[in-house]
Amino acid sequence: MKRLFRSVGNWTPVFTVVSCFQVAPIAFRRNCCFVRIICNNNRHRCFGCGIRPNIFSWNWKRRGLPRGKVSFIHSRLVHLPSEVSVTSMTTREVLATRVTEALNNLFPDEESPDPQLTAATRPEFGDYQSNAALSLAKKKKMNPLQVAEEIAKHTKTDDICEQPQVAPPGFVNFTLKKEYVALLLQKMLADPQRLGIAPREKKQRVLVDFSSPNIAKEMHVGHLRSTIIGDCICRVLEFLGHDVLRINHVGDWGTQFGMLIAYLKQVKPDALIGSTTTSLGDLVEFYKAAKKKFDEDSEFQETARREVVALQAGDESSVRAWSFLCEQSRKEFQQIYDMLDVKLTERGESFYNEWLGEVCKELEDSGVAVRDEGALCIFVGGHTGRQGKAQPLIVRKSDGGFNYATTDMAAIRYRVKEDKADRILYITDAGQALHFSQVFEAAKRMGYAKPETKLEHVPFGLVQSEGGKKFKTRQGETVKLKDLLQEAVRRAEEDFRNRLQAEGREESEEYIKRVAHVIGIGAVKYADLKNNRTSNYQFSYTKMLSLQGNTAPYMLYAFARIQGIYRKGDIDLNQGHQAENVQFILDDPTELSLAKMLLQLEEMLFLLERDLKPNILCDYMFELSQRFNQFYENCPVLKAETVDLRTSRLALCKLTANTLALCLHLLGIPTLERI
Ligand code: ARG
Repeated sequence: MKRLFRSVGNWTPVFTVVSCFQVAPIAFRRNCCFVRIICNNNRHRCFGCGIRPNIFSWNWKRRGLPRGKVSFIHSRLVHLPSEVSVTSMTTREVLATRVTEALNNLFPDEESPDPQLTAATRPEFGDYQSNAALSLAKKKKMNPLQVAEEIAKHTKTDDICEQPQVAPPGFVNFTLKKEYVALLLQKMLADPQRLGIAPREKKQRVLVDFSSPNIAKEMHVGHLRSTIIGDCICRVLEFLGHDVLRINHVGDWGTQFGMLIAYLKQVKPDALIGSTTTSLGDLVEFYKAAKKKFDEDSEFQETARREVVALQAGDESSVRAWSFLCEQSRKEFQQIYDMLDVKLTERGESFYNEWLGEVCKELEDSGVAVRDEGALCIFVGGHTGRQGKAQPLIVRKSDGGFNYATTDMAAIRYRVKEDKADRILYITDAGQALHFSQVFEAAKRMGYAKPETKLEHVPFGLVQSEGGKKFKTRQGETVKLKDLLQEAVRRAEEDFRNRLQAEGREESEEYIKRVAHVIGIGAVKYADLKNNRTSNYQFSYTKMLSLQGNTAPYMLYAFARIQGIYRKGDIDLNQGHQAENVQFILDDPTELSLAKMLLQLEEMLFLLERDLKPNILCDYMFELSQRFNQFYENCPVLKAETVDLRTSRLALCKLTANTLALCLHLLGIPTLERI
């Protein structure tokens, strides 16, 4: 079969075969006449892919049979290489493997040569490039251009690429064949949920520690960033098939509780006898009042200290007061999570309390931690503080108290041993970088983390007001997250109502509310995610809610518009078999450029999986929508010249809409039909 398929040369077919191309040799072998295949195009399945062929555009009655040349039909279309169809490698991975094979043949003495395959740096270089020739030539004292020529000659790519081109000083450039691009699009179209992206074969257990606000303290914009970025990372990892634990490492333990409980006992004693109706109102205000009393009243300070001891000793009334406070905060946090539609499992600092003593003992016994001026310290990484003094990680203070670091050590121990995590991600502001680098090193040294366990701090920058100032309300107070989100929704609603009025459209109140919520919350999320997370970003309602530029409303609008074009086409490509029969025609450069962008999603997700940078996805969507606009300007869709062309273009619309919807979903933003 394969031999027959390969031997056909460059004959130009006179008719079009859609989606299946191996059926002709079957017919040839069985000596079927063509008429049967054409007429009963649902009767035969392709040996290779099982798809039913659909042959059209061939008027056999008028033109007669292409006798004896049956197999030539196949010279135009190719099957997906088995790496792609069977092992679901990406195109880039396939090319990298192929270049590696060539390098192994050319330089047998080179141990594991690196194909150095990257996306092309400029469109005129094609789609991918290998830079391997440069370093190899240098090493072997050869001419890089010649090495590149050899690589180009020896890399087997004819099934997916045009003839590889060599460019000075020694690049090998690869341009994908249109036919190959078309086949990949078909695969994507036939799988509306996953767009042809298979889950990772090697599934990891990833624990993502994110959001993590502190009880009775303000949940501030830093926690909002952590929540939004963390959720997006979880969504992408989940989509790629990993086993993700979304952990909320709430700050629910510590000395502030002594003060809070003592105060609670004085002002709200009824809360302690189990009355559930007691409301504390805003806990933050309560915290401020308790702190004020603590600072002013020395007798109260003493009571507060006794409370800490009582709580840590498990005194019943203290524990009840503590859980009441946590419950109160939890309710407030949950409102934010509901608004953002973020799911988290709470496992706060208190969870690890029972192991803190044991952890310190293990650290000390093993010699990883040593006593220094009464405190138990781990000297890691040569970090020095002021006056050049070594800055250790303190795991037990000189007064015997445990701290944030002790808890984090115990948490790693638990996460590796009990949760069996392969990878642990900590999403916090960049200010905690030193803490995490010390904790990670200590955990590796102690063996709490295995050598292969990946511990990663995923830092982010600050949220600032416009003009780069500290993020505060006009009155100079810290902004409450609930107010911030509600304001975004309110403004989105105002914009939408204005738009409806200006365009003379009408929508139900229910729909208006839904649009306002999706756009308002989506805008806040998108504005956060589209920046490189390590840089600071300026919070601006006007910018994030604009319908122009790289914003959530623009993306939601792009989706709705493209979906609308597709809907007008009145064909249903959601039916698997219909999708399989679409033949993509990519003759216009804008069609091809859109198509290639659509195919890049998988590689983008793999990048995001590695680098944990959500802006990769936002940049991708923005570029995709730009390419769609160019395509739409150049190529009539509903009024395309032929039925085949119309179907192909509608399918491109469908794929673009599906891709945008999937990306938005991964950013935590639902789509809207009209905005
Ligand atoms: N509660 C901490 C804060 O507000 C963040 C906790 C991050 N997670 C951790 N395992 N240390 O800064």
